[in-house]
Amino acid sequence: MNIESIYLLNFRNYSEQYIELDPGLNIFYGENAQGKTNIVEAVYLLTMGKSHRTNKYNELVKWDENDTRIRIRFKKEDFQYDIDYMLKRNQKKQIKVNDIRLDKLSDIIGKLNTVIFSPDHMKIIKEGPSERRKFIDSILSQTKPKYYYNLSQYLKVLAQRNILLSSDKNNSIEKYLDIWDNQLVDYGSKIILERQLFISEIDKKAWEINKELSGGRENFHLRYMPSVAENKHDIKDIKEAFEKKITESRAVDIKRGTTNYGPHRDELNLYINDKEVRNYGSQGQQRSALLSLKISEMDYIKDEIGSMPILLLDDVFSELDKTRQGFLISFIKNVQVILTCTEYENLYLGDKSGYKVFYVKSGKVYSE
Ligand SMILES: Nc1ncnc2c1ncn2[C@@H]1O[C@H](COP(=O)(O)OP(=O)(O)O)[C@@H](O)[C@H]1O
Ligand SMILES: [Mg+2]
Repeated sequence: MNIESIYLLNFRNYSEQYIELDPGLNIFYGENAQGKTNIVEAVYLLTMGKSHRTNKYNELVKWDENDTRIRIRFKKEDFQYDIDYMLKRNQKKQIKVNDIRLDKLSDIIGKLNTVIFSPDHMKIIKEGPSERRKFIDSILSQTKPKYYYNLSQYLKVLAQRNILLSSDKNNSIEKYLDIWDNQLVDYGSKIILERQLFISEIDKKAWEINKELSGGRENFHLRYMPSVAENKHDIKDIKEAFEKKITESRAVDIKRGTTNYGPHRDELNLYINDKEVRNYGSQGQQRSALLSLKISEMDYIKDEIGSMPILLLDDVFSELDKTRQGFLISFIKNVQVILTCTEYENLYLGDKSGYKVFYVKSGKVYSE
């Protein structure tokens, strides 16, 4: 899959910009605060329907303007797609795919496939479980529309249930809880099963990549620690275990005013040689672990959708040492890459042939 062109109108610090990309490597360089990440953000926005760095859509519109527009033309399996994203301040977004308007904005997810990698993603390794759940959810949402649906339904039900739990307690609460619990278990169990399958796939891939990256010295493993139904691999068993747990914990849930068990509390643990990477990994090991996860993510998406996603490397490539740069370059031979950096002279590009260099300055892109 590859992007042919990006058109930006009043997006962030861009007034009007048209960029034609190389099917291989695209390097955007320039000083800080010039608009490099804004380009990555535009591509991500059309991948997931939301920005990777803000939930406030108005921020995306150029300060002195009222509406923004992004148009990306890309090819996937010999089909050409145009995604047109239009956003007016404080109004509903509008998205068109090949000139046909989407009824549901979330239908945009899964059309354009990308893997994003920025220094911020170190959080996946270093911070709490919600970052790792986000990692899982964004990949599964891109590749399985049903997963995205189940997850958003689950989160809606969860929010409703929590409102009920934290409201004035009276006798009728139990009756309503029954209804929410049923739905919570139903959507939640499907999520648990998908996460299980996903993690066992990624575990195999990441183990192999990390093995090579570490010269055979490291055993990198992922372990899914669901909040309920651990070691259950059948949807019926998962449901049963979840149901049991939620019934048992009802009194505590009511007392604390929140839902204490379910996929929103799942953990994903990462280990190198049986030690948790987050607490015991060296900085080098942590970087390798993240790189392995990101390469696995690309490979997983390729397996699922049948073509390689586009790789967005925001400010991260120059941070890798030569060995890791070389490793990544060898993996992405046939991948379209959008890479941002402040200087590109010292990047190790191996035999990556065919690339385009763009200079970014004050919301303008100059092709070199
Ligand atoms: N809505 C907006 N309107 C105009 N300029 C914006 C808007 N949002 C961000 N900017 C500007 O965009 C620049 C940051 O762009 P960014 O792509 O993050 O920079 P970098 O090149 O460092 O990656 C800053 O100069 C910021 O002031
Ligand atoms: Mg940046």
